[in-house]
Amino acid sequence: MNKKIVMDKEILDKLLTISENIHNISDIDILLDKVLFELRKFTNAEGGTIFLVEDGNLKIRYIQNEILFKNDASAKYKYLDKIIPINKESIAGACALNSKIIMITDVYNIKEDCNCGFNKSFDEMTNYRTKSIIAVPLKITGNKLIGVIQLINARNANGKIISFSEKDKLFVTYFANDAAVAIEKAQNMRSMILKMLKMVEYRDPKETGAHVNRIGTYAIELYHEWAKNRGFPVELIRRFNDKLKIAAMLHDTGKIAISDRILKKPGPLKKNELKIMKMHTVYGYRIFKNSDYELESMAAEIALNHHERWDGTGYPGIIEDIDKIEFIDNRSGKKGTQIPLTARIVALADVYDALSSKRIYKESWEEDRVLEYIRQNKGKHFDPEIVDCFFSIYDTIKEIKNKVCE
Ligand code: C2E
Ligand code: SIN
Ligand code: SIN
Ligand code: FE
Ligand code: FE
Repeated sequence: MNKKIVMDKEILDKLLTISENIHNISDIDILLDKVLFELRKFTNAEGGTIFLVEDGNLKIRYIQNEILFKNDASAKYKYLDKIIPINKESIAGACALNSKIIMITDVYNIKEDCNCGFNKSFDEMTNYRTKSIIAVPLKITGNKLIGVIQLINARNANGKIISFSEKDKLFVTYFANDAAVAIEKAQNMRSMILKMLKMVEYRDPKETGAHVNRIGTYAIELYHEWAKNRGFPVELIRRFNDKLKIAAMLHDTGKIAISDRILKKPGPLKKNELKIMKMHTVYGYRIFKNSDYELESMAAEIALNHHERWDGTGYPGIIEDIDKIEFIDNRSGKKGTQIPLTARIVALADVYDALSSKRIYKESWEEDRVLEYIRQNKGKHFDPEIVDCFFSIYDTIKEIKNKVCE
């Protein structure tokens, strides 16, 4: 073992750098994306799939393919959540069954002693030709299997499909052990956060999973555009968005502290009720503040500031006794860049979604009316730059709105 590590200093260095990277990722989708990306980069593989164990089967949780999804990024959604049984009939299934690495040079002409079959359905569905494969079990402590990583079609420098090498095998094995730990951590994190969001939804049925998912997704697209315009490196954007998506989803967590009488009131709120309703920003802040986790600090910042307005007419404004106050009086809000960027982004995402949706106190607005509101409030309610970002990625916004629906 020591000998191998000394021999492969190049591999070890790479592993250490990537490892540090992946252990800092908390969103499971962003993590899986990164894991596959790194493995494909090292092995020069055309495609890859991550299967996670669910109810005793394998489920496709992430898929990348340079050729198939080149011109149609949304095509991959077709394969997500497909179920593959853990048995000898597929390579991933056999890999999971025996908890052992499988390497095959040509899946249509299996010479290796893998004691398994190749499931052609993916190729048939897509007109794709899978040739070489490596499938690696994802195991955590106690040898518990949590999934399988499969890479397909390794290529040489000329783009010709070749077998995966022994060096690939070594790299993928070490990497998979490490990735499994990070994946399990991210799964636990997601599971806890989904429970928190469910708690908010039970209290306030309009805060549905779809609504918060949309807000999280709008927010990362808006940040992506904002940061891209500034020439921020992709890696930095990706890391920031990892936290932003979840933190944005938690923006209204403070509503769990608002009584039903106010939260579920069918009509407009009275002045005194509004003073209490506005406290959801401060309650959310109190839940997440003073955490060592960057994700929670970001959630606190967003919860507190997502109803501030660019022109200073929002709330709650600057508060000295934030741990004591019980309602938000009329006071002046924070202004411009006094408001954190994350909150300026979520403000637009939240209002766009709130206006487009039916509420207990109002009907949903037509798209044109919503866009008109956003346009008119450029530099008033909203950061003018974020409004520009919104309109330059409007196609994507529309796609999210249609896809992630109730
Ligand atoms: P929400 O329903 O998620 O709305 C989020 C934000 O979207 C609102 O923040 C507001 O900026 C915008 N918005 C929503 N509906 C409308 C609308 O019909 N017209 C306009 N111009 N903007 C709209 P806001 O006002 O600070 O409200 C925060 C939360 O307080 C709302 O979240 C909702 O839960 C509650 N709320 C606000 N007004 C009323 C009301 O009249 N009746 C009831 N029952 N709840 C209200
Ligand atoms: C997710 O990433 O959790 C699914 C929501 C989406 O991106 O559409
Ligand atoms: C940032 O660069 O992350 C924040 C700057 C701003 O608030 O505009
Ligand atoms: Fe809110
Ligand atoms: Fe909301």
